Order: sequence, then C-alpha cells, then structure tokens
Amino acid sequence: MRALEINGGTELSGTIRVSGAKNACVAILPAAILADDEVTICNIPELTDTDALCEILKSLNVEVKRASESMIIDPTNMKNVEITENYSKKLRASYYFMGALLGKYKKAVMYFPGGCSIGARPINLHLKGFEALGATVKNDRNKYIVEAEELKGANIYLDFASVGATINIMLAAVKAKGKTVIDNAAREPEIVNIATFLNNMGAKIVGAGTSTIQIEGVERLHRCFHEIIPDRIEAGTYTIIGALCGNKLKIDNIIPEHLDSLISKLEEIGVDIEIGPDYLIVNKMDDYKPTQIETAVYPGFPTDLQQPLTVLLTQCNGKSKVVETIWENRFMHISHLNRLGADITVKNQTATIIGPTKLKGTKVIATDLRAGAAMIAAGLIAEGTTIIANVEHILRGYEQIVEKLTNVGAKIRDKEI
Ligand code: EPU
Repeated sequence: MRALEINGGTELSGTIRVSGAKNACVAILPAAILADDEVTICNIPELTDTDALCEILKSLNVEVKRASESMIIDPTNMKNVEITENYSKKLRASYYFMGALLGKYKKAVMYFPGGCSIGARPINLHLKGFEALGATVKNDRNKYIVEAEELKGANIYLDFASVGATINIMLAAVKAKGKTVIDNAAREPEIVNIATFLNNMGAKIVGAGTSTIQIEGVERLHRCFHEIIPDRIEAGTYTIIGALCGNKLKIDNIIPEHLDSLISKLEEIGVDIEIGPDYLIVNKMDDYKPTQIETAVYPGFPTDLQQPLTVLLTQCNGKSKVVETIWENRFMHISHLNRLGADITVKNQTATIIGPTKLKGTKVIATDLRAGAAMIAAGLIAEGTTIIANVEHILRGYEQIVEKLTNVGAKIRDKEI
C-alpha cells in the first residue's frame, strides 16, 4: 500500500506553482463532448480524477490527445453508449456526462457516481433540473436512464445553490430549444470558467458567477481553445501550510480574489500575507489568535478548506470553532488530528479546537481528499515521523504534491508500507 512519510519541523521557503482547478477540469472534460469539432484545453492538472475522465471519454469513442498540460478532445466519432458502473463509480464528476450526453444526444445511461464519502451526496437537484427541461428519468437501483424527445428551455429554481446541479443543468440546457433560467445558481469561480468554456464553443450563457444564469439554446457548438483557471483549493491548502511553517513561501499562479474569505480569516488569526497580482507570500508568525468559521457556498468560507484550516487552529492560542454546513460527514480528519496530539471535540456539525497543542508524528489515514491535505499540513509541523495511509485520496486532487512540497524544503516521500 502506498503511504506518505513526513519528517516534520522544517521551514518551507521558495515557490509553489498552483495547477489548474480540479473542480473546473472535471466538468470541462465531459462538457467537451458537446462540441461537434475538436476542442483544445490547457492548464489541465495531472490527477487520477483527470485520468478517470479520460478513460470514460475513450469508452465513448472520443479521441483524447494529451501533451503535458494541454489536451485535445475530438468527439467527431463518438458513440453514446452506457457508461459502465465501474467507470461511473470512479469519481463524483462522472455525473457531468449525464448533463453533457443528455444535451448532445437527448439520452444518457450511467450509474450513481462515486467520490469522497463526505455525506450522502444525492443528485435529486440535477435530476429535477433535467426533468424541468423535458427529460424523463428512469432509475433502477444505481442505474439511471435520462432521456427526452426534445429539450425545452425552462425556469429552474434550485432549492440549494449546488455546484454540481448548476453545472449539469447548464450542460443539458446549452442546446435546448429556447431560454433556460437557473435561479439560486451556485456562484463558484469554477462555474464561471465552465460557462466561459461553453461560450467559447458558441453557447449563449450570461450571468455565470451570479445567482441567476440565463442560457439561450443554440444548435451547434464548435471548436475552441480554453484555459482552466488556477485551483483555489490547492492554493488555499498551500497558503495554510505557509501559515504553519512558511518562511517567505510564495504561492504562485493564482487568482487572489478567489481566496478572499480564507485570506481575511488568516489575517484575523495573525498570519503575515503579502498579496500580489497573481501570487501570495506567506510567513508563519507567533501568537496566532483563535477564530470561528462557518463553511458556506461561494463567496463564503469553502468547505474544501475547512479540514486543512483546522490544523492551523490547533496552533492558535485559545478556543476556535468550525461549523460545517455543507457536508454532514466532513470531520473524519478530527480523530486523526487528535491522534497526532490535537485537542478537538466534535458535536453535531461543530468542531471545537483548543490550542495551542504540540503535534507528534504517528500513523494516520487520509480518510478523504481534503482530510488527506489536513494530515499533510499536520505532519509538516509534527515532531518526528508521520505516516499517512490511503494516499490515493490525496492524488485525486493535488497534482505532484510530494514534488511541490519537496521543492520548498519539506521532508516528505511516497513509499510502500
Ligand atoms: N445536494 C443535494 N442534492 C443535489 C446536489 C447537492 O442535496 O442534487 C447537497 C449536497 O448533499 C451537499 C450540498 O448540496 O450537502 C452541496 O453540494 P454541491 O452539489 O454544491 O457539491 P458537489 O457539486 O457535489 C462540489 C465539489 C466539492 C465541493 C462542493 C461544495 C466537485 C467535483 N466537487 O461538489 O469538492 O465540496 O462542490 O463546494 O466539483 C473536493 O474537491 O474535495 C470536493 C468535495
């Protein structure tokens, strides 16, 4: 089994270059099939989630050519066959093929998607959106057949500003007849990036990034060139690591505005951050103040950074609180942080962190992707050796994390245990 071994206590300095955003990329690759010609996408992160989507594309007879950070996707000869249960379960984002296939062929057959076990993760809002556009959904245990004679624009109000439902409905609606309006749409930067991609292919989408997205259906989508935005969650993770053990640690190739909620929390705690046009420089300081955070939809504090941030809160002087409002099962990292020496209790959806506590290396598990990032952050400041098992969760979402951290001075290596 692969594990990460970290010898903590070293100061990190130098530059970490942030990769393309996982959560934009995983929607853009399925969205590419909507084109009638080949599309070129650059700044693609090398992640196991990206590889899994390429396998699904190939199973649909889509040609995928990859050269370092760019990819050419050619759906000219694609076939709309069932996406097998094995492929569907490999990752959460396989469900974007539902919207994309429905939009292109008016039929999608696939299974319930996989992904981290951070909650029940229903897809009712996606399906409700497809039905509003005129599709029928047949569901037999894990299998879904979504089809329509014709897709017609509709007014859709989302009961919750779901990232996945907003994107999936956009994918199904771009070629529908007439106008679709999504109200209470999610506003995450990844949604803007995906809408820009679709518009580059000839779609007519306005309002992405606000709560109301309007989509005027078009008949054809054509070739285009598109660049994926920098990964704000990867950037935020390294920024938190900088607050824990950085000495002029530069987090480069980012869009600082996407990290506003994190930066203001870190400044409130007492972290020293220089904000450049496309970078941050972070210094660890002494005497961090405790704080309270509550996760929320964008532009609120991102749930995906809650787990790494908890590690920093173990180093603050006093009692901090973290309220998780998005996922019902996103505190699995806490028992592992306590094994490393943290003093954290969880009641309902609130974690209470008493700090500062010295962390001491031991064997822990990356229970999910961001819990894994939290274990790395903790291992970097813990005394002695930390071994992190279940590394595959981390590799789903952080490109070359071992190399990037090694380059700035961390003692971290990938090994078999
Ligand atoms: N929800 C429903 N019904 C639905 C869809 C969502 O009840 O049909 C609920 C979920 O159960 C959850 C909330 O709405 O309680 C938010 O779900 P959302 O749909 O916004 O999340 P997602 O699209 O499944 C994406 C990211 C997550 C990130 C969330 C929130 C991808 C592939 N995943 O998930 O990223 O936490 O948005 O920002 O884009 C991660 O990268 O580690 C990760 C989990």
